[in-house]
Amino acid sequence: MKRTVEIVKDPQELADKAAGHIIKALRKAIESRDVASLALSGGSTPERAYHRLAERRNEVDWARVRVFLSDERFVPLDSADSNFRMAARALISQVPVPLENVFPVDVQSSTAEEAARSYEATLTEHLGPTPSFDLILLGLGDDGHTASLFPSAPSLAVTDRWVVASPPGTLPPPVERVTFTFPALNAAKEILFLVSGERKGEVVQKVLESPADCQTRPASCVSPTDGTVTWLLDRAAASRLRSDSHQ
Ligand code: 6PG
Repeated sequence: MKRTVEIVKDPQELADKAAGHIIKALRKAIESRDVASLALSGGSTPERAYHRLAERRNEVDWARVRVFLSDERFVPLDSADSNFRMAARALISQVPVPLENVFPVDVQSSTAEEAARSYEATLTEHLGPTPSFDLILLGLGDDGHTASLFPSAPSLAVTDRWVVASPPGTLPPPVERVTFTFPALNAAKEILFLVSGERKGEVVQKVLESPADCQTRPASCVSPTDGTVTWLLDRAAASRLRSDSHQ
């Protein structure tokens, strides 16, 4: 696994660089296989990047992109807590991706576990028995979680599933989740972490400069077998890094 850390000035430059990175990854996949698979992250950090990506919509052949979510809150799609709602407003509704290429988690399932099983079937139907995304976007929670892989959660130990349900973590919103597992994340060709803000400084330093610890800092165990991980940080999020080996 190749890891790159890129530090940019501020949230706007983070959004600009993220959009450029996403466009490059999608174009590379489309050029080589005529289709690109993209998993979007939720939370608040990526929203600005999605708007920037939408502004550059003409640089991607969106008809050849399949859009998924790397995790979802088990809430109605019109809930303010829905990751899909945020991504749909900021990006999906702003680019010419065919609706049949957009795959939200089925939050109308009777349980989060049923939604996870259904989403896992969608992944294998469209990406094959070992779903290897061209690009998965991820964020980093203050507690070291990523996607909805929370510290000490049972989902961290799962090795035979691509998608699982997860009880709420300690961070808001306190709702059940549907999340990619480590096998799904680590089958990716590229992972792009987007992290912004002073409050992430301490967890960024621990994840990037301490030994990986899947239980306490799940994000530290995102390590694609045959892929790359890029950490795109603004200066505030990178403010506690001790090594100057990062870009
Ligand atoms: C979610 C996200 C989650 C998020 C981190 C960072 O469903 O909340 O997928 O993993 O990426 O919690 O969130 P912020 O970008 O809001 O800090």
